[in-house]
Amino acid sequence: MILGLAVPLATWRDLVYLFAIIGFTIALKGLSSPRHARQGNLVGAGAAIVAIGMTFSLPELRHSGVNLVLAFVAMAVGVVIAVPAARMVKMTAMPQMVAIFNGVGGGAAALISVVELLHWHRTAAQPAVYQIAEVLLGVLIGCMSFAGSAIAFAKLQELMTGRPITYGGQQAINAVVGVAILGVFVAALVTGTISLVWAMAILALGLGVIFTLPIGGADVPVLISLLNAFTGLAVAASGFTLGNDLLIVAGTLVGASGILLTRLMSQAMGRSLPNILFSAFGSVITATGGAEGETARPVRSGTAEDIGVLLAYARKVAIVPGYGLAVAQAQHTARELADALTARGVEVFYAIHPVAGRMPGHMNVLLAEANVPYEQLKEMDEANPEMPTTDVALVVGANDTVNPAAQNTPGSPIYGMPIVHADQAENVIFLKRSMRPGFAGIDNELLYDSKTTMLFGDAKDSLQKLVAAVESA
Ligand code: TAP
Repeated sequence: MILGLAVPLATWRDLVYLFAIIGFTIALKGLSSPRHARQGNLVGAGAAIVAIGMTFSLPELRHSGVNLVLAFVAMAVGVVIAVPAARMVKMTAMPQMVAIFNGVGGGAAALISVVELLHWHRTAAQPAVYQIAEVLLGVLIGCMSFAGSAIAFAKLQELMTGRPITYGGQQAINAVVGVAILGVFVAALVTGTISLVWAMAILALGLGVIFTLPIGGADVPVLISLLNAFTGLAVAASGFTLGNDLLIVAGTLVGASGILLTRLMSQAMGRSLPNILFSAFGSVITATGGAEGETARPVRSGTAEDIGVLLAYARKVAIVPGYGLAVAQAQHTARELADALTARGVEVFYAIHPVAGRMPGHMNVLLAEANVPYEQLKEMDEANPEMPTTDVALVVGANDTVNPAAQNTPGSPIYGMPIVHADQAENVIFLKRSMRPGFAGIDNELLYDSKTTMLFGDAKDSLQKLVAAVESA
């Protein structure tokens, strides 16, 4: 009853779905800043639970007998697998977890479309052309997303090589498969033949695989973001098929946010999306730097004690984290160092590059795990104006994201990528294990700069030594 009026269940359903949609939108807003990301996540999960609860209370599901039991069994299996997996996953393995979750989402959307198709077939229903088109789109995008995500998972989990896999005529083969899919799509639409839908599903699975093979392991997070957008669109297509407004809006939100994230990541890497998807980036390494001491050019390396004194007597220190911080799991030790410095009156902030690490928000997530105060986190655009007045830029396992070649070497693979201007600080300290390059496989002149000192070793060990040195300075 609302205001004394009997309200039909369908109206309740629409109202609850509307609230869930508002919840998803608020969740996305929350996820856009590290400060509110946790709450955003909770709001999104809460909205999804309410929406699922409402769906289960609808008569068509409540009275669906064995299907209801199957749905509960599937949910129980999903919970038993996903909850421990999400709790136990290491932060460095997060991209592959996202890949596999995204893949099953795409696969589920494709299966929903197939089930609807089989239902029409069984009941000899005569669906309209647009309904067949919705089903075909669900199958096509869902299958591509499933297969692409599976290969992305295998690359990141090192079940196969992470290097780009290329072969002669690759683009032409991809194009032929794409055109074949288009042909089968049109034929299935016109004739309504069910075997053509199977053919299209197989071709779409194949395209998902061959499209992903030439993408290098470290570019895969961008691909996952794109596939995530595909999954959203497949879910929206399923929503049209089932006449479910919630699925349409939720799928569209995922599709739109995935496309925006893909665009932001490409921009932050200073590369176009076609370059990321088709250039087999990472198959060639041009750097000359090798293991510690193996470089032909002289570099200055220091001791933890000397660097500890430099840090302890600095006025302002910028910690610039990168992929090596994640590998070394050094986020807690970085915080200990920042705390030791702050206790001595040194101003400390973290300069976060948008694509430092290997997945969106990688550094923010790690530093949030170490409970770094939010006011110390500065995004690149906010941090860079501070750099000329910073005494020490402490670069912890970052390389490409502070490489000045991105600004001053046209022709460099990273030319055009915005960087954290560690080079503008008075002193630069690099914590890394060797002179080896980062993801882009290119040398970094800043390592050889006269104001740079190297502290070789695992980032966590080096930070521990620096904490001890600062405390005894
Ligand atoms: P990178 O340029 O990849 O450099 C990481 C550095 O960390 C390496 O030079 C490595 O040197 C060092 N390192 C590795 N393990 C370490 C450890 N245990 N202790 C200390 N140092 C260690 O990292 P970045 O500056 O964060 O840049 C990220 C790169 O990934 C960019 O090129 C970006 O475009 C790309 N990328 C990012 C994303 C996202 S969304 N974040 C997605 C795809 C690609 P040593 O081997 O000498 O130790």
